[in-house]
Amino acid sequence: MADLAATYMGIPMAGPVVVAACSLSGRVETIQRIEAAGAGGLVIKSLFEEQIMAEEVQLKKEERVGAERFPESLTYFPPVDHAGAREHLMWIERTRKVVQMPLIGSLNAYTPGGWADYARQIEQTGVNALELNVYAVQTDPDRSGADVEAELFDTVSAVIDQVSIPVSVKLSPFYSSVVNIASELDRRGAKGLVLFNRFIQPDIDPEAEALRNVMDLSRPAEMRLPLRYVALLYGKVDADLAANTGIHTPDAIVRQILAGAAVVEVASVLYAHDVEYIRTLHDGVDRWMDQKGYRKLTDFRGKLSQADAPAPFAYERAQYVELLMQQV
Ligand SMILES: Cc1cc2nc3c(=O)[nH]c(=O)nc-3n(C[C@H](O)[C@H](O)[C@H](O)COP(=O)(O)O)c2cc1C
Repeated sequence: MADLAATYMGIPMAGPVVVAACSLSGRVETIQRIEAAGAGGLVIKSLFEEQIMAEEVQLKKEERVGAERFPESLTYFPPVDHAGAREHLMWIERTRKVVQMPLIGSLNAYTPGGWADYARQIEQTGVNALELNVYAVQTDPDRSGADVEAELFDTVSAVIDQVSIPVSVKLSPFYSSVVNIASELDRRGAKGLVLFNRFIQPDIDPEAEALRNVMDLSRPAEMRLPLRYVALLYGKVDADLAANTGIHTPDAIVRQILAGAAVVEVASVLYAHDVEYIRTLHDGVDRWMDQKGYRKLTDFRGKLSQADAPAPFAYERAQYVELLMQQV
């Protein structure tokens, strides 16, 4: 039997499978099953500043409705403060008490003060690390890519200044140069880079002629995009790399580690098979390692990264040149 122990951002983990931020962290019983199945760690679903703000606005509106009609009601119903992030933070504290496995808090804020403030509050819950879910759709045509990137760097630096736990950044693949962004975040002290987040894309229902939100699970072929960037970055940044999106099988985990991942984050496969599938994933990696004679994950990690691969240019090829040449 191989040793599946992993280290991510300096945190020892029982295995390389980490549960990605998602609603599976919303129930204590599920979290306990995740731990029992041998997960390396769990990222708790994000604290969304946007959601807190929206709820606060709604609450204020509801307060005003009564007050306008019955001004005297204010004496009966003095203004209440919205629980803000408290509910979420109390949830993390509760989770911390019931499991021993590493827990990673996740934050998606949108005001400069919000990022640093909520990061500090999440740290105080006792999580082992903090993952920054930094993606936002840009809709302002006057904001350049450079503006967006500068804000990202400032945000990450501000958070790193505020907390003493390791900070990882969960990136989107939608940058002109992912490698440049990742390297700059690494220089600024990010201890982990999660490649990549996967987003909800809107859709249109032609029958109803209305917008619809679809939450579909990832497909296995999607893991090749993170695979490329894990391989390109391995050995070039100090930060640990967590591969994410489309990782559904033990074979996919092995491929990501060969490319250079320290751990993988998974969500969709656990919605499809339930959380006990973590054990199947780890068992499959174990079997492969036994067959190949590897004892530890680090025996083969990065063996097929761009730096170490026998055909490093494969990771740079994006066009179908060869395919087109064959057809003429
Ligand atoms: C139901 C659901 C909820 C999610 N919630 C969050 C979240 O709160 N924060 C976050 O960063 N990502 C969230 N994600 C994205 C996942 O963490 C992950 O990045 C994505 O699903 C890709 O991994 P997968 O292919 O294994 O599903 C969510 C995904 C799902 C399916």
